[in-house]
Amino acid sequence: MDSQIYGVHNLIFIALFTILALTSSALPVTTPANAKASNAPPQINSNSVLVALLDSHYTELSELVEKALLLQTLEEAVTKHNITIFAPRNEALERDLDPEFKRFLLEPGNLKSLQNLLLFHMIPNRIESKQWPVETMNKKKIYHTSLCREAVDEKIQLKEKNGEKIVSIARVIKSDDIVRPDGIIHGIERLLIPKSVQQDFNARRSLRATSAVLPQGAPEVDPRTHRLKKPAAPVPAGSPPVLPVFDALAPGPSLAPAPAPGPGGPHHHFDGESQVKDFIQTLLHYGGYNEMADILVNLTSLASEMGRLVSEGYVLTVLAPNDEAMAKLTTDQLSEPGAPEQIMYYHLIPEYQTEESMYNSVRRFGKVKYDTLRLPHKVVAEEADGSVKFGQGEGSAYLFDPDIYTDGRISVQGIDGVLFPLEETKVAPKAALVAKIVSKPRRGSVSKSKTLLANGKLLEMACTMLGAVGHDAHFSSCH
Ligand SMILES: *[C@@H]1O[C@H](CO)[C@@H](O)[C@H](O)[C@H]1NC(C)=O
Ligand SMILES: *[C@@H]1O[C@H](CO)[C@@H](O)[C@H](O)[C@H]1NC(C)=O
Repeated sequence: MDSQIYGVHNLIFIALFTILALTSSALPVTTPANAKASNAPPQINSNSVLVALLDSHYTELSELVEKALLLQTLEEAVTKHNITIFAPRNEALERDLDPEFKRFLLEPGNLKSLQNLLLFHMIPNRIESKQWPVETMNKKKIYHTSLCREAVDEKIQLKEKNGEKIVSIARVIKSDDIVRPDGIIHGIERLLIPKSVQQDFNARRSLRATSAVLPQGAPEVDPRTHRLKKPAAPVPAGSPPVLPVFDALAPGPSLAPAPAPGPGGPHHHFDGESQVKDFIQTLLHYGGYNEMADILVNLTSLASEMGRLVSEGYVLTVLAPNDEAMAKLTTDQLSEPGAPEQIMYYHLIPEYQTEESMYNSVRRFGKVKYDTLRLPHKVVAEEADGSVKFGQGEGSAYLFDPDIYTDGRISVQGIDGVLFPLEETKVAPKAALVAKIVSKPRRGSVSKSKTLLANGKLLEMACTMLGAVGHDAHFSSCH
């Protein structure tokens, strides 16, 4: 018996050894690395822009280029054509970079993302500052394709604004910083992040968050009282919450301070806080949406409110007006207490919609109405010019930058206008007063005022929402 087993072992061993020997003798012929070695390696000139980059004060960038194993690719590139490198200054890759994003880039598994990010800063021809488009002729936009093959449809725009040279969303701080026969380096203020890399980063986080979910029961709602019933029936983890999103909204973000991010409750399947942080960062990197980001983060506590909702399992689609649209808002429209929240609530749809899903529904159904968090107002969408148009008449906006951020729970769609509900103008005289009464109580005492008003759950919900929306929303039947 024993010797038989040994015999089998020996056989396997010999077989393995033979296979190994065979493959290793075959390797030198087939691996690309060796194939290259047998060809003449690209001759890199000591006067090359690449040598200059590695020697330059862009130490963070050149370190990353080496870490990304890109030198050979770039050497081959400069033997064929000139390159222009937009080099982010060191601070952009150190102090200004989200440490989590940097960690992501340096993980060996994300080499491709790092390469894409770096190649996105290089274009395969020579652009000296004297070739920069000047302000007066900026009717015709100048775009270039980067060396990043996964971002061929994401063009790099060069322009001049107020006498400053701009690359995409970054200011040029040192043009023609390094000039060599095969290329040129311009110093830029910040990093340019291609969509694909941002999406990889976002996806990584969502994956980690969802894989960390423990299966637990979701709360069950009593349809008569509109309150939670106990005990909760078990439902699969990650399934949507039972309560409508309106019930989960904070009573009055304009009045109540945002809740401090505490330890997640038993039903917090998702890390909504970081998802919201990610999407705001995406907006900032994307460029052109700074006003919106600023309102969410600095002017209101909406960002934390959204984070809380997403943590509780709700999904959101954000129709984000771009900076040009926001610039058209008058100070009157913004200065009313609670006005920024009201405006923003009308841009939040409690569903997960992507460009594709919205476009498909407007194609199929003509007009589609989406709920917004500004109850009871809905936003109308229809097809127009091969895109999706929101709102009616003058106050309409086109889907302008689709799918800026999509992670399965939050979707951000850039639009070119600020939307207002049509019904806005119908003023009910007593509404403001009632709304004040409803919205005065802070978190905690709200349920009391809710029961005081108990005229049926729909009304109760609407009035609570009114409180959430701010005191000058108009809904006349709350008293
Ligand atoms: C790079 O540009 C310079 C100046 O325009 C030109 O003389 C040179 O031939 C170009 N190099 C390559 C490899 O195309
Ligand atoms: C919030 O305000 C600070 C300080 O003014 C600013 O640096 C930051 O960029 C703002 N945040 C957003 C998202 O705009």
